[in-house]
Amino acid sequence: MDSILVKGGGPLNGDIPIAGAKNACLTLMPATLLSEEPLTLTNAPRLSDIRTMTLLLQSLGAEVTALQDGKVLAMSSHALTSQRAEYDIVRKMRASILVLGPLLARYGYAEVSLPGGCAIGARPVDLHLKAMEALGAEMDLRDGYVHAKAPAGGLRGGEFEFPFVSVGATENALLAATLANGTTVLKNAAREPEIVDLAHCLQKMGAQIEGEGTSTITIQGVDRLGGATHSVVTDRIELGTYMLAPAICGGEVTCLGGRIELVESFCEKLDAAGISVEQTEKGLKVARRNGRVKAVDVTTEPFPGFPTDLQAQMMALMCTAEGTSVLEEKIFENRFMHAPELIRMGARIDVHGGHATVKGVERLKGAPVMATDLRASVSLILAGLAAEGETLVSRVYHLDRGYENVEEKLSALGANIERVEGQ
Ligand code: EPZ
Repeated sequence: MDSILVKGGGPLNGDIPIAGAKNACLTLMPATLLSEEPLTLTNAPRLSDIRTMTLLLQSLGAEVTALQDGKVLAMSSHALTSQRAEYDIVRKMRASILVLGPLLARYGYAEVSLPGGCAIGARPVDLHLKAMEALGAEMDLRDGYVHAKAPAGGLRGGEFEFPFVSVGATENALLAATLANGTTVLKNAAREPEIVDLAHCLQKMGAQIEGEGTSTITIQGVDRLGGATHSVVTDRIELGTYMLAPAICGGEVTCLGGRIELVESFCEKLDAAGISVEQTEKGLKVARRNGRVKAVDVTTEPFPGFPTDLQAQMMALMCTAEGTSVLEEKIFENRFMHAPELIRMGARIDVHGGHATVKGVERLKGAPVMATDLRASVSLILAGLAAEGETLVSRVYHLDRGYENVEEKLSALGANIERVEGQ
């Protein structure tokens, strides 16, 4: 397993490219199952999760070809050979559940392994299944798989109100409803930019969708969908992550392609902490306004609230802020595993249930630390960038799921960071 070695240093300066969104690409890729025509995605991120989704789609008989070093995914599923998503692939990546809706809609049948939990929580999929039932499907859970069957005439449009916001369940329902007979209304739907991006791609394929980006999405089912070419939306979580690099280290960095509307609530918190964010033609230019960063309180919420996927990274910033901040994690039940690792670096953090209280210190000290999940791993790297001495982050396979070439991108800003093979 590789590690990343970070030597704390001075300010970071320069431009950093932001890739296409992992969490958009992972829901756009299964859309190929809905149509016999080719679907091509451009601006795709080069990540291990994308390679896992590629293997899953290929296991179903879809053709997925990575072009231009993986930035373009040319896909076609005119002749699927299987409707079964095997546990061996699904257990590696929970987003595999997103093939359920498209398989049901196109073929009327799907066998998808239940994904199981992960480090940050139990991650049940009950809302995905309830949404499919609202479209007339029968769900039979046995031997670790969900065996789903659509009515003889195909899925039926229906109304479903999510008891709480679920990004993945909204995506599954949206994908399935595009080919259902009649109209589907999804209430309390997720509003994330990745949902909007999926809707825009489906509309290019011929889907009739309204209300994407709001809490109520209405879908008029159609008989078939065509092909399309679609550019994956910018990754707002990678964007927010790299905006924190100059916030933690000092200096001035422009995140290329960044747009305020992707990270509005995050920018409000940075502003309160004393970080300036300026929209330029190239992207978002970020720098400390003056002196030490101020402590701010953060509560994670569904979009447009503060993203849970930026909570760990924000905690890294708060570790050396002036004052005390309270971070409340309201989306996942176990998403503070970066805290004990940051404490090893001298951070002062008390975790009680869903709240973490961080008392800022002048400077962290480098230490060997362990990545536990995707966003925790990058928060440890951010902390190491400004810490005194060396930080060795182990188990960086977590990192490679969501960040392409993190060491190259940060080195280009002047960071002292390298990958250590096989540690
Ligand atoms: C998506 O996960 C993202 N993953 C997550 O990003 C992100 O943290 C999350 O949305 C919230 O924004 C992808 O898009 C691939 P949810 P998802 O359904 O869809 C519970 C990252 O770091 N829930 O919105 O799984 C669930 O346990 C990853 O890139 C149910 O109880 O999230 C959680 O507590 C991590 N039953 C809450 O709802 C369900 O059927 C929100 O989950 C579904 C979810």
